[in-house]
Amino acid sequence: MKLNRFFEEYFLKKRYIFSVAESDVDFSDTYYLPENLKIEFYNIPSATKEKFSDLLKQIVPDALLGRYTSRYEQNDNWKLLVAYSGGKPVGCNWILHIPHDNFLFDSFLHNTDHILLGNFFVIEEFRGKGINKLLVKRALSYIYENHKNKIPVFIVERSNISSIKSSEGIGAKVYGVNYLLKFLKRNVISIYVQNKKLQKIWFLLRYKQSIF
Ligand SMILES: CC(C)(COP(=O)(O)OP(=O)(O)OC[C@H]1O[C@@H](n2cnc3c(N)ncnc32)[C@H](O)[C@@H]1OP(=O)(O)O)[C@@H](O)C(=O)NCCC(=O)NCCS
Repeated sequence: MKLNRFFEEYFLKKRYIFSVAESDVDFSDTYYLPENLKIEFYNIPSATKEKFSDLLKQIVPDALLGRYTSRYEQNDNWKLLVAYSGGKPVGCNWILHIPHDNFLFDSFLHNTDHILLGNFFVIEEFRGKGINKLLVKRALSYIYENHKNKIPVFIVERSNISSIKSSEGIGAKVYGVNYLLKFLKRNVISIYVQNKKLQKIWFLLRYKQSIF
């Protein structure tokens, strides 16, 4: 297991590209959430940066805080969904609007036919209760309603069993595989494979990620 992790960190990482059709999602549990659970869009532009950062601090670890807080300035591209249990923020996920074709995010080149769902996070003591599934379903219902022509996409590492299970529990299916070749821990080449056929290869150093 440790050897696997070392290999993934230094040489090659495999990730699954998930998507899900509206007809495959059962939204019924999102209409009747448990009494103390609420899932809401957080209105980034109407908060101050400090408030936004204070909220994120309650959910995600410090290592992610800087990157997520910088999304305050990029709020045209991002939507943030937050789950609250008894008023306490316990989980979040993000929707990223792809601004142009050949847009690099998370070592994958996206086109504007994609809309990205990602950075799923639920605080440890609330995991395994289906909160992520509810958060993702809420995000999907927003996308199906407001961006009918887009394909919702989320990328999950092969080693992330809980995220894979949670995604499959929603009805999502793997429709492609992404391999990241690394040099000194840095992703240098990204390979996209669909139905065991090579689709695309990107040399990542050629592209600049402008949204974080
Ligand atoms: C991934 C994450 C968001 C899932 O949140 P969650 O609210 O616990 O997810 P859900 O409860 O909807 O689903 C988790 C599923 O994984 C299963 N699971 C969890 N740990 C597992 C394990 N070690 N082995 C097998 N299954 C596991 C649960 O049983 C559940 O499946 P089920 O509904 O079929 O029983 C949460 O674990 C997390 O924040 N992890 C750290 C950040 C992260 O990895 N984010 C994902 C990036 S893509």
